[in-house]
Amino acid sequence: MAFDIEMIEKVYANMATRVDKARELVGRPLTLTEKILYTHLWSGNPSEVYKRGVDYVDFAPDRVACQDATAQMALLQFMHAGKNKVAVPTTVHCDHLIQAKVGAKADLAVANSQSKEVFDFLSSVSDKYGIGFWKPGAGIIHQVVLENYAFPGGMMIGTDSHTVNAGGLGMLAIGVGGADAVDVMSGMAWELKFPKLIGVKLTGKLNGWTAPKDVILKVADILTVKGGTGAIVEYFGEGALNMSCTGKGTICNMGAEIGATTSTFGYDDSMRRYLAATDRQDVVDAADKVASYLTADAEVYANPEQYFDQLIEINLSELEPHINGPFTPDRGTPVSKMKEEATTNGWPLKVEWGLIGSCTNSSYEDMARAASIVEQAVAHGITPKAEFGINPGSEQVRYTIERDGIIATFEKMGTKVFTNACGPCIGQWDRAGADKGEKNTIVHSFNRNFSKRADGNPNTHAFVTSPEMVAALAISGDLSFNPITDTLLNDKGEAVKLNPPTGDELPSKGFDVEDAGFQAPSEDGSGVQVVVSPTSDRLQLLAPFSPWDGKNITGAKLLIKAFGKCTTDHISMAGPWLRFRGHLDNISNNMLIGAENAFNQKANSVKNQLNGQYAEVPAVQRAYKAAGIPSIVVGDHNYGEGSSREHAAMEPRFLGVSAVLVKSFARIHETNLKKQGMLALTFANEADYDKIQENDTINFLDLTTFAPGKPLTLEFVHEDGSKDTILANHTYNEGQIGWFVAGSALNLIAAGKA
Ligand code: F3S
Repeated sequence: MAFDIEMIEKVYANMATRVDKARELVGRPLTLTEKILYTHLWSGNPSEVYKRGVDYVDFAPDRVACQDATAQMALLQFMHAGKNKVAVPTTVHCDHLIQAKVGAKADLAVANSQSKEVFDFLSSVSDKYGIGFWKPGAGIIHQVVLENYAFPGGMMIGTDSHTVNAGGLGMLAIGVGGADAVDVMSGMAWELKFPKLIGVKLTGKLNGWTAPKDVILKVADILTVKGGTGAIVEYFGEGALNMSCTGKGTICNMGAEIGATTSTFGYDDSMRRYLAATDRQDVVDAADKVASYLTADAEVYANPEQYFDQLIEINLSELEPHINGPFTPDRGTPVSKMKEEATTNGWPLKVEWGLIGSCTNSSYEDMARAASIVEQAVAHGITPKAEFGINPGSEQVRYTIERDGIIATFEKMGTKVFTNACGPCIGQWDRAGADKGEKNTIVHSFNRNFSKRADGNPNTHAFVTSPEMVAALAISGDLSFNPITDTLLNDKGEAVKLNPPTGDELPSKGFDVEDAGFQAPSEDGSGVQVVVSPTSDRLQLLAPFSPWDGKNITGAKLLIKAFGKCTTDHISMAGPWLRFRGHLDNISNNMLIGAENAFNQKANSVKNQLNGQYAEVPAVQRAYKAAGIPSIVVGDHNYGEGSSREHAAMEPRFLGVSAVLVKSFARIHETNLKKQGMLALTFANEADYDKIQENDTINFLDLTTFAPGKPLTLEFVHEDGSKDTILANHTYNEGQIGWFVAGSALNLIAAGKA
């Protein structure tokens, strides 16, 4: 599917020189992660050693992938970069905006009609700018990327947190916000803090009911949802060699659930087999020539404790199947302990639904192994107790499992086959009865199981487990069922014990597909018209933000003094607002509606200084904008933590907020504010936060001499005429001040100056 072998060969051509140079500089053997990082430095050949967890480094990723929800704003911004084509191979995948309700065909038809304008927009922008476009129904982004684009030793970024899935093919693949994707698509560097390294040594061999999923469920249990923060997880050992490539993908996929930057595995035979089966023998041939660079130096895996910041060891031969949850993916329970845990905690034992799919577990092997359990149940006359649904990961997987009779097997049990898309995993599941809010249990093979994620019901207890365990639990209808020891009753009242799952890693007759759902871009897209209706409420073309007028900002009003936690969700909520991700004006109606006003402890209620009335934050800000009055936002610690969505920076910019002054920033949000041409400032003296009053008017005194390392001075004029002069620090370098001056980083790129 137009994957770029020349690009891959170019990466490999540089690898030996760069890795050898890095090894010499570092003065010790290198992990695989370090080899890939040092091969992808923006500056080319390594010339210095970077400190893990400390240094920010510019990288040059090989690819970009975007999903339909996040691609909208990313592409709207890219259109302003003034480029004819994306600078690196890029793909867009339509998978998030398809609801699962009746079944694949009907659901896809509904999505194609409801989100037609979004899909048409993504398709036309892709066509114009040289981006590969995967139509609705083609599959889930990460499965499609694994099947077509991932390659050992590569580096990619994607506008989805589970981009990390491509680590299953030996990549460093990292989830980012749209602003980062725009930079790379526009030919700019991508910055990352040089990560810490966690090694996971896998010994033994998976057997019986245990699957690759159990490895990551166990790791999540050990490390918790925050344990991987700022780190890349590198898996190795004989257990890794004994595992399929898609199984490795599952493990890397859920690295997002431990907060890891990404996860990866060294190049091995499972990857060779998978690449060959997905029509990429030429990648195997190229990778084989540099194979020693596509895994760590032997000494690293022989004495891993010397080379990783943290080391975990798991013996796969002894690993039990796990069921993680409810409500968090790091609450791990081995299957043998579930009865006790569930009873103690009052979790409903009756399983209502079993769902297999999502980007985590929707490979051919996953489907085949789950189907082997269904087959046994059908053969023994066991009636399934729960309902069952599957989302194949791609049309290629769906077509092949249909050809091989796997879908027919699922259907014998009344399984609903949903579209090759995210569906229930992203809450796009119109589940009958969920609105009643009943306490109930579902089991699924997805990655996230936060409250309300699958069906919107906060009382749905969702448990994450392997596809084969989902099948067994759905058939038994009992969360405490342990297929290793327990039996099920068939229609004749006989006790039946299920055999462990079996299933081919790859289809013995090869993959097949009639229409994979790919649209290649035009060679010359200059004549392609991008379709956006001016009356659309979901899409809106962006206008460039105005450049700075060169003067001090004066007479600014305080919009809100936010108190306590203010994440990007508080600044730009998700949920129903997802619909407006491509329409900056409409989505700006959620700006800061979740933030707590320090003066009245209420959310979405701030004083409009023009009339003294309290109103919703976006409405007050729109009033200031209409009156031509600038404003500033004041915040607490770690302002803007959470998701990296750029909307949280674009909305205030769009509505006329000039500066955000806080005790401290989450770094990505701080950068996003800078990129949008705003002032991101921190109190030089944190206690000054307490001096800010509700009716303050703010004057900048020395913005005209804005320079790196030099604090800015702000005068806060209180209602009674008294004043406080406050020093505000910033971290702008020369280039970033250029973004502020130009009005945004994109304006600078468009002017050819970045
Ligand atoms: Fe989609 Fe769920 Fe993966 S939303 S990309 S299937 S985590």
